Amino acid sequence: MSTELGGTPVLILREGASRSRGRDAQHANIMAAKIVAESVKSALGPKGMDKMLVDSFGDVTITSDGRTILDEMDIQHPAAKMMVEVAKAQDDEVGDGTTSAVIIAGELLSKAEELIDKNVHPTVIIDGYRKAGEKALELLEKIAISVTPTNREWLKKVATTSMASKLVADHKEYLADIASQAILHVAEKVDKEYKADLDDIMVEKKPGESLADTKLINGIVVDKEVVHPGMPKRVEKAKIALLDAALEIEKTEFDAKINIESPDQMEAFLQQEESMLKDMVGKVAKTGANVVIAQKGIDDLAQHFFARKGVLVVRRVKKSDMEKLAKATGGKIITNLDDMSEKDLGNAELVEERKIGDDKMTFIEGCKNPKAVAILIRGGTERIVAEAERSLHDALCVARDIVREPKIVPGGGSPELEIARTLKEYAQTLPGREQLAVQAYAEALESIPLTLAENAGLDPIDIISELRARHEKDEKWAGVEVIEGKPKNMEKAGVYEPLAVKKQMIKSATEAATMILKIDDIIASGKTKGPPMPPGGPGGGMPPGMGGMGEGAGEF
Ligand SMILES: Nc1ncnc2c1ncn2[C@@H]1O[C@H](COP(=O)(O)OP(=O)(O)OP(=O)(O)O)[C@@H](O)[C@H]1O
Ligand SMILES: [Mg+2]
Repeated sequence: MSTELGGTPVLILREGASRSRGRDAQHANIMAAKIVAESVKSALGPKGMDKMLVDSFGDVTITSDGRTILDEMDIQHPAAKMMVEVAKAQDDEVGDGTTSAVIIAGELLSKAEELIDKNVHPTVIIDGYRKAGEKALELLEKIAISVTPTNREWLKKVATTSMASKLVADHKEYLADIASQAILHVAEKVDKEYKADLDDIMVEKKPGESLADTKLINGIVVDKEVVHPGMPKRVEKAKIALLDAALEIEKTEFDAKINIESPDQMEAFLQQEESMLKDMVGKVAKTGANVVIAQKGIDDLAQHFFARKGVLVVRRVKKSDMEKLAKATGGKIITNLDDMSEKDLGNAELVEERKIGDDKMTFIEGCKNPKAVAILIRGGTERIVAEAERSLHDALCVARDIVREPKIVPGGGSPELEIARTLKEYAQTLPGREQLAVQAYAEALESIPLTLAENAGLDPIDIISELRARHEKDEKWAGVEVIEGKPKNMEKAGVYEPLAVKKQMIKSATEAATMILKIDDIIASGKTKGPPMPPGGPGGGMPPGMGGMGEGAGEF
């Protein structure tokens, strides 16, 4: 890039850099964002399709989860990457609604482009979009239905909706029930509000059996086996010592030499070590513990002593799991053996080593009022359990959202249609061009029921016209029931979603769209051509249509 100054060109950017500005820049960005939205569209809703994503190592992921699809796509175009950020923000904040947020953002940009082509300035569009976004949030608050945050039925309902659109939908009721029970176990009342932390729910997955064998454990499962064959594999009424102290003789940090001159000395030396270990084991056993779960290592000899005392021992358990164990069993993590006493021990009805698939795992279950619980996902294949884990994550998130903010709205595109109707009325009160932007925003929201209908093989135009008319007649929960394949009152259909998900969807989509619209100059330095292609050339084994997001979408 250069400019003329008194006849001499002034070079500003390095050679090889490219720049596009104004309409060109906007067009390129909008195009890239639209392609991203287009790529997730077919995954929306219970009748949406799944995507098969193949990474550069040939690993396959099958999913319909918006965030996972975009994460795996290895997108390079900067504006397209901003759309990926939308999905991330949505997932981090509320855990569901990622596909919807991306679709709306794409549609907002697509409508904006039409307006730009009609000579509406992007600043006017941005202002209009922001106003519309605020109105939409107000309206959502107004129409939302309040529920009791600790009512398992409501938690289960939103969890069921979130799983209806996943590969695991056949088992949605069962898995939703597990998710809602888990959330209620870990929910705590802080001041006047409830909180639930997903970190207190351990999710383990093991291929084998079927999804129906997925279980909620009133306690914790650790992916470790009992250390010594002479130990019991099952202990009832367990009193558990949680140790963060090594039951080993520490090696000195410097090289030391001990001269042993006679067999007696050798014997004495070994005995000394033995008695130290015996002493350590004695301190633990004295508390009455019949189970030991250790974060660190345990010397073979110490294992032997524990075995003789009939204590079940598991070692090298992750720190995060130790913390969950403390919450589940009510025990305290002990760092110094000298200070430990009976009251530091945790309790569980049963501790047992079981063979799950090819591995041995230790179950610590039947905890009284556990503040941390575990879910063990089972399912036919590796890919099914992986998708079940992602779906369960969404289900846990939406149940948590209700505990945090106990408000719901029916789904099936009904809230989007209701907001669209109100925004169209609101648009009439605005001057000239801003009116067009608010109108466009309303139409962009209608892309949700439209896409739901389209994915269900219904005629989107017919359905939307009918639904618009029903909303005019104050049927605020009229939406597309895709299972029955017709317009329906979604409250009666029992399809509910957390208000938090819908609010975040509006926020993330509006933010991303306005941010992309505000850019009118793209300067790309020559060096940032992106990482090298994976082996096998462009696409590297990707299914058609999944690779090359940046193509034709800009000059990068
Ligand atoms: N029985 C149903 N009939 C109509 N729409 C439904 C039904 N069940 C769920 N939906 C709708 O499906 C949409 C959710 O679809 P989906 O879960 O595929 O996408 P998302 O939640 O936006 O993104 P993701 O789950 O990938 O994060 C919501 O609008 C929800 O109301
Ligand atoms: Mg969802």
